[in-house]
Amino acid sequence: MQLKDTVALVTGGTAGLGLATARRLVAAGARVVVMGRSPETGRAAAARLGPQAVFVAGDVTDDDAVGRVLDAAEELGELRSLVCCAGTTYSKQILGRRVMRLDEFEAVVRTNLIGTFNVVRQAVVRIAAQPLVEEDRGVVITTSSIAAWDGQSGQSAYAASKAAIAGMALPLARELAPHAIRVVDIAPGLFDTRLMQAVPERAVEQLRGQLPHPKRLGAADEFAALAEHVIGNSMLNGESVRLDAGLRMAPI
Ligand SMILES: NC(=O)c1ccc[n+]([C@@H]2O[C@H](COP(=O)([O-])OP(=O)(O)OC[C@H]3O[C@@H](n4cnc5c(N)ncnc54)[C@H](O)[C@@H]3O)[C@@H](O)[C@H]2O)c1
Repeated sequence: MQLKDTVALVTGGTAGLGLATARRLVAAGARVVVMGRSPETGRAAAARLGPQAVFVAGDVTDDDAVGRVLDAAEELGELRSLVCCAGTTYSKQILGRRVMRLDEFEAVVRTNLIGTFNVVRQAVVRIAAQPLVEEDRGVVITTSSIAAWDGQSGQSAYAASKAAIAGMALPLARELAPHAIRVVDIAPGLFDTRLMQAVPERAVEQLRGQLPHPKRLGAADEFAALAEHVIGNSMLNGESVRLDAGLRMAPI
């Protein structure tokens, strides 16, 4: 699907992988709505992206906020692409002195899984109403993680939320196929963003040592390049694509 003169919504588009994706989509000629929670960070991000981008504040778990963001996207033109990058990480054991509380587990699942589903379910109603252009009416990209398969000790909440996101790609793609809307999940490995800075340095070093090739953290623009490709390549559908330099995380 061509991006030029279409509208894309990028959740978590004010930082990290989402911001890099918004930058790519703008460069490809799309008008982009970036959604995030902090108005300050969001406005600064939109200013850097230029006149083709607007920031709309909102939390992905908030129904009404997502509706308002989608209204803003439709004001810009034909909404065709959704890239879900909003997410959080969290790590805590379930046995020991400082154990993960139930509300902490729920909060991670709520942001990552329910937040993603909330945006997808509302966005596809709008995308499905667009006229068909060539083969596709639109594309949905979700972001899981290789932790969906290779989660570390302490990552039960994060890994569960990400495994569920990866698990939605095929059933959503099957459901949305009659509407010519594709759904593709991207499962990043280790990327150099603020989220990765929350991981203890020793753990990052140990994981870096396990990388087959290249032995470095990915750059956010490398994620963005894949997101752009997914939108353009109509044969990609119902799949979770690992973007991980061949990493299969062993326990650390
Ligand atoms: N960086 C990595 O190595 C890596 C690896 C695997 C998966 N991921 C996933 O990629 C996605 C993007 O991560 P990143 O590395 O760019 O992190 P990041 O922290 O730089 O960006 C995440 C963005 O999501 C936003 N966000 C968080 N909760 C939100 C909510 N409830 N509503 C709206 N926005 C919200 C944040 O404000 C931020 O802008 C996340 O889902 C993350 O789990 C990242």
